[in-house]
Amino acid sequence: MALRNILHDGDTTLTKQSRPVTEFNQRLHQLLDDLAETVEDANGLGLAAPQVGVLRRVAVVLDEFETEDGEIEYEIIEMVNPKIVECGGEVTRFEGCLSFPGLHGEIKRSEWVLLQAQDRLGNEFTLEANGMLARAVQHELDHLDGVTIRNNAPALYTEAQIDDMVDKARSEGKDIEGENR
Ligand code: CO
Repeated sequence: MALRNILHDGDTTLTKQSRPVTEFNQRLHQLLDDLAETVEDANGLGLAAPQVGVLRRVAVVLDEFETEDGEIEYEIIEMVNPKIVECGGEVTRFEGCLSFPGLHGEIKRSEWVLLQAQDRLGNEFTLEANGMLARAVQHELDHLDGVTIRNNAPALYTEAQIDDMVDKARSEGKDIEGENR
């Protein structure tokens, strides 16, 4: 396993379409291992192959859950050639991206998604995702089509700007929620 370099906003690779995976070989396994190690190292919730310069339809997301002892743990979900086959609901929240360090955009997403993908061996699986996982899945799938938070959000804000907006909204009796990705 190895850490890969995460490309940042401005790199044209981030705006390109990724190609489907056709060979489920050692090279794919290495890529998946590296994506997992890199996203963990960066404290992210997901990472897509184009973000490390590989234009293939591959991404990982973290599925966080609470154990019986109240500990927060997570599992890495590997997605190869993923597709959203059903979705519903609508939630607008702030989200970030490892390719846009320190920036966040308010983005409308489906509340839940039914995902169809392949695992590292090529086996098809489906996954129903809600909440943060559903948001992470949609965010990573966008990367595979060259779509980033810059395309999805009307504007991008720094942490400090969002804090100001949240304070202002609270003082007006509204509520804004933010999440990091
Ligand atoms: Co991202």
